Amino acid sequence: MSGNVGKRDEVRGTLATLLDGAKFASWRNGLGSPGMTDTRKLYIKSFGCQMNVYDSRRMADALAPEGYVETASAAAADLVILNTCHIREKAAEKVYSELGRMRRLKEAAAADGRRLVIAVAGCVAQAEGEEIVRRAPAVDLVFGPQSYHRLPDLLARAARDGKAVDTEFPVDDKFDHLPAASAAATRGRGVASFVTVQEGCDKFCTFCVVPYTRGAEMSRPVQKIVAEVSRLADAGVREVTLIGQNVNAYHGEGPERRPWSLARLLESVAQIDGIDRLRYTTSHPRDMDDALIAAHRDLPQLMPQLHLPVQSGSDRILAAMNRRHTRADYLDIVARLRDARADLALTSDFIVGFPGETEDDFAATLALVGEVGFSGAFSFKYSPRPGTPGADMSDQVAEATKSERLHRLQAAIDRNQAAFNRRCVGRTVDVLFERPGRHPGQIVGRSPYLQPVQVEAPASLIGETAAVTITDVATNSLFGRLTSSSPCRGEVGERSEPGGGLDVAQRMAPPRTANGGSTLPLQGRVKVESAGA
Ligand code: 5AD
Ligand code: SF4
Repeated sequence: MSGNVGKRDEVRGTLATLLDGAKFASWRNGLGSPGMTDTRKLYIKSFGCQMNVYDSRRMADALAPEGYVETASAAAADLVILNTCHIREKAAEKVYSELGRMRRLKEAAAADGRRLVIAVAGCVAQAEGEEIVRRAPAVDLVFGPQSYHRLPDLLARAARDGKAVDTEFPVDDKFDHLPAASAAATRGRGVASFVTVQEGCDKFCTFCVVPYTRGAEMSRPVQKIVAEVSRLADAGVREVTLIGQNVNAYHGEGPERRPWSLARLLESVAQIDGIDRLRYTTSHPRDMDDALIAAHRDLPQLMPQLHLPVQSGSDRILAAMNRRHTRADYLDIVARLRDARADLALTSDFIVGFPGETEDDFAATLALVGEVGFSGAFSFKYSPRPGTPGADMSDQVAEATKSERLHRLQAAIDRNQAAFNRRCVGRTVDVLFERPGRHPGQIVGRSPYLQPVQVEAPASLIGETAAVTITDVATNSLFGRLTSSSPCRGEVGERSEPGGGLDVAQRMAPPRTANGGSTLPLQGRVKVESAGA
């Protein structure tokens, strides 16, 4: 690295002689704190899960007092942050190819007398640290998910020392040091918002990097979460998704200094004025306790859609994955959830081709899909992650077998999606409108089951909830018209019978991505994956 720093100083010297003084100062000041009156352009690109989307917003909040304003154009930016994902090999590879593009932008900016600072954040940063700067010398700053509250300092350090790498798990809680978004910034981000309530994981599934990249499980205190959600509600947010890598392991400190469960937290957040809709993700089956299941019956704000990863339908593979639940445990939880909320739509995550997976194991996964009737799923080929136990297992499955199984699994999920979407036609559901639609006169919102719904309606309805009768379906969204009748709970379907025909859970399967996974249409303008649990 020192060689690169030396080379950079040499380039600086040359540039200083080539550029006039003012231009050189502006080029150099791309790193470090700007003066109070300077405005800098910040471009953040999030990879992976909803936690990264949330983190990116908080990074923008941390940099706002330093004069940074977000831009949608990397070419126009003074600072680019790639907020990365390490969950599968492909996710990490994408970062390096994006860094190639950023290096070219940096060179073009330098030719123009501007300084473009490149930072890599998130889980690839945490896992690879200095290696990133070795592989991509154009990178100025590398920092892990626990350090983003220190961004202004880290930028100053990079300006002073040439490069900065920070992948510590600091003892101080980043949430205590982050400025809140302004009401205007919050409004600009839409009516649906994520709020991190829990981070990290102690489950150590044998395929998963999360316990290593995000660290030990920690929960934010109840009062801080309530304060954050109240601020969001005051700024016009109507739907909040509480997020965490293992969100239902939540055990944050309550006002009386004793730990609260997620069910209790949801109850408290549901009382905040203005919050019409609540969701939480991502949950682990082991942590679906009775109180949380009952919340699906008792809290009208809690939307009837739950993402509950199962990963495999084979007990042998579940044990090898260290999932700590069996197929029967999972089915029992599903039955209890549907007792609590008949119209609950269930989505899930699956991994195919985990080491040792036989055709019989895979058949058990396919059978589980039929039995539960998932409304959608993310499905992935197993990707060995360095440092996890799965990567060292001897009986790795051939790539071609993984691809073939993934194909069959996704076909099964797609059939459920199509059937479910067809079943929605003619039904009336509440839609929370989020943004203008693709065509003039159209606006788009979400059904309670998280489906995008396109409706011809005035833009003044954005931010409002209205009853919509579904008139048509396309692959990725529904179409509907405003209606005056109010939707009734449970209308979209009836209780499912295991193995039976079309049922309530056969709804809303997500569109597939090109890279072999599936994406659930989650929030706002971004399509993000679940993470963890
Ligand atoms: N290979 C493939 N998929 C993985 N996931 C996590 N780790 C891996 C891996 N090594 C999937 C799981 C998890 C989701 C977030 O990503 O299905 O639930
Ligand atoms: Fe934790 Fe989920 Fe990863 Fe398992 S898959 S280690 S529960 S984050």
